[in-house]
Amino acid sequence: MATTKHRIALIPGDGIGQEVLPPACAVLEAVGARHGIEFVYDVFGWSCERYLAEGAMMPADGLDQIRGHDAILLGAVGWPGVPDHVSLWGLLIPIRRQFRQYVNRRPITVLEGMRSPLSDVQDVDFVVVRENVEGEYSEIGGRLNRGFPDEMAVQEAVFTRPGVERILDYAFTLAGERQGNLVSATKSNGIVHTMPFWDELVVEQAERHPGVTWRQEHIDALAAKIVLDPAQFDVIVGSNLFGDILSDLAAAVAGSIGVAPAANLNPERDYPSMFEPVHGSAPDIAGQGIANPLGAIWSASMMLEHLGHPEAAMEIFDSFAHVLASTPVRTPDLGGTSSTKEFTSQILEGIGKR
Ligand code: NAI
Ligand code: MG
Repeated sequence: MATTKHRIALIPGDGIGQEVLPPACAVLEAVGARHGIEFVYDVFGWSCERYLAEGAMMPADGLDQIRGHDAILLGAVGWPGVPDHVSLWGLLIPIRRQFRQYVNRRPITVLEGMRSPLSDVQDVDFVVVRENVEGEYSEIGGRLNRGFPDEMAVQEAVFTRPGVERILDYAFTLAGERQGNLVSATKSNGIVHTMPFWDELVVEQAERHPGVTWRQEHIDALAAKIVLDPAQFDVIVGSNLFGDILSDLAAAVAGSIGVAPAANLNPERDYPSMFEPVHGSAPDIAGQGIANPLGAIWSASMMLEHLGHPEAAMEIFDSFAHVLASTPVRTPDLGGTSSTKEFTSQILEGIGKR
């Protein structure tokens, strides 16, 4: 069997980030051995721990160190004692922006055997496409009159035509490959400049994708519908902030934030894309060996798909779907009693057997 070699940059990060990446790598090894895929890992200890010791989340030339890798697999960053905006803007956001990872793709699938907090959830299978490099998460703005009664803060949201067009094109194209159904998250009744602009570009984009049925929903009503009737959705596209909130909400609806995967994609492949579970570093359970590794394992499976190995990716999915559907083995967040290790072993055992 011919062997394909992939160089992966591993950034475990903080807390349970360090506990969920080894399971993801173990699963990659197992499936890689069956498909002639070899992984070479370079591990980067960029984290809040590093920040506290050295004053920066990553070295000044950090991005250059991972620019040449085929993909980046990240655990989670953030730890008490380091403000979250410092850890986020010191590591995750520079990677997403400098590597033009403008698509944040988050599949939401309720798997058989998972308990959703909602009573009757069946056939939930949709994708949230989040704009990942502009919008509300902008550096433009500032603070004035600190410490005075008239203290103030201003933060500008930035929506560019190319930035909105490319995320909408990605989302419409994806919908065309799926059920042909797209919902655009907006709030053009309240936010009267950027959101009407977004809506206009949706109309333009829709004309280029005549096979896709689409509608727009205000973000507040849409959030309610994700809770009340999640099965109706196929692809939801939203700005950076709206997409962030909706995908966490949707992940919770699907059963646990610990299961949800995410891909930060540079569709042109000029730079490496980054794959990471949606969850954070979970300081409340870190170090106990009970973190759910599925979000990281599912992210690794998305990475394989991106690297051109859809069958191998599917084997991973089939194995964990089988474990959930047919065994009681799962971590406490999913109502089980198993450790991260036991859950991972069970998934490893099923690789290639479904
Ligand atoms: P979180 O996702 O770390 O935890 C929220 C809740 O979900 C906690 O009760 C946690 O125990 C549980 N949980 C999360 N992942 C789990 C898993 N795999 N298995 C079992 N239970 C799991 O979110 P939180 O508490 O808001 O943030 C903690 C830190 O993580 C903060 O510093 C935050 O900034 C950072 N964070 C980092 C992200 C990233 O690296 N992309 C994303 C979200 C938060
Ligand atoms: Mg989030």
